[in-house]
Amino acid sequence: MDIENLKKNLADALSDTEVDYNKILTLANQISKFDTENVRFSIDASHISRLGHELVSKQETAVAELIKNAYDADAAYVKAVFKNTSKAGGELIITDNGLGMSREELVNGFMRISTREKSDNPRSPKYVRQRAGRKGIGRFSAQRLGMRLQLSTRREQDSVGICIDIDWSKFDDIGDLILVSNQIRNDPSAPVGTRLNISNLKDSWSNAQIQRAYRYISDLLQPVPLRFAPSKKDGNPGFRVEFYEEICGDEILIASEQQNILDNAHAILSGYVDEHGVPYFSLKSKRFGIDTESEQLYSDSKVKTVFDANVSDYSQLSGVSFQAHYFIEDDLPAGYRNIVRNVLKKNGGG
Ligand SMILES: Nc1ncnc2c1ncn2[C@@H]1O[C@H](COP(=O)(O)OP(=O)(O)OP(=O)(O)O)[C@@H](O)[C@H]1O
Ligand SMILES: [Mg+2]
Repeated sequence: MDIENLKKNLADALSDTEVDYNKILTLANQISKFDTENVRFSIDASHISRLGHELVSKQETAVAELIKNAYDADAAYVKAVFKNTSKAGGELIITDNGLGMSREELVNGFMRISTREKSDNPRSPKYVRQRAGRKGIGRFSAQRLGMRLQLSTRREQDSVGICIDIDWSKFDDIGDLILVSNQIRNDPSAPVGTRLNISNLKDSWSNAQIQRAYRYISDLLQPVPLRFAPSKKDGNPGFRVEFYEEICGDEILIASEQQNILDNAHAILSGYVDEHGVPYFSLKSKRFGIDTESEQLYSDSKVKTVFDANVSDYSQLSGVSFQAHYFIEDDLPAGYRNIVRNVLKKNGGG
């Protein structure tokens, strides 16, 4: 078609009452090829398939990338459910209670490749976390994992959420990337946060692979958050992740900070100071057969505190409680040694 015809067709398409967006984009694109003084990069749709496959080689890394996005969005909790994944073709649902996305953020952030949002803003808005994302491509892990992605998301301040449906097979065909359209609609039932439903999974998942994916996100976990002011709404709630497997309609917990980390503690020391300022403590250890009831802590003049003063009056600490998990690294079960080490490196004391 010559340029005059293209211009006329575009003018017609623009004045049609029912807007055909793909037609307008195709014509505008064809017209731009007549620009004899400038050339432009164009992107083939198959680039998307390549992003998923070549940048994220392992399926475990792909799951970790999606969980990192929830961490970056200030989620306190992420739940991943593996459904019918003993063979390829199953489903993986990752739900977080993070900040969610507005329509504008979804369209100009999630649907825009190589966004610089996180490299420009390396700290998360709510809990000021050091964000894990930087490159603007991690979302293509969803394409690495399955043939279809349904994403629904809602921010706290929005009354309805939004939902997009992406069929990645559309990106296998040769053609211009901007011409591949994906359905977007309102989702009145979306809870606050983001939910990724990845279906028609490309690979099967063994239990060992699921456990490995959990290990890959262990450096983000904050299983026992320090809360200096529990009444403060924005107090950092930590970051917890649980993996479930759906078996005959029941969700069975298969990886969590409790199972994979805290249950491996050799001992748990807990304590609190009651409303009269009386301190109590208890020590429990299955490994060493210790199970004390809560006992009153009597100040012992032989025990020196770090402040080098004898403490006998705890009334200033009324209401304070703590729990300390004690691990002996060299005595950890082999399958859990690395993950416990990772978590202790970030969250542990001396
Ligand atoms: N679970 C989520 N909650 C809220 N926003 C999300 C979520 N997942 C993705 N996003 C949005 O989509 C964008 C794209 O995510 P993607 O992982 O591709 O890039 P990134 O995290 O910026 O960088 P990287 O490639 O290094 O992970 C994010 O910047 C964020 O705005
Ligand atoms: Mg990311």
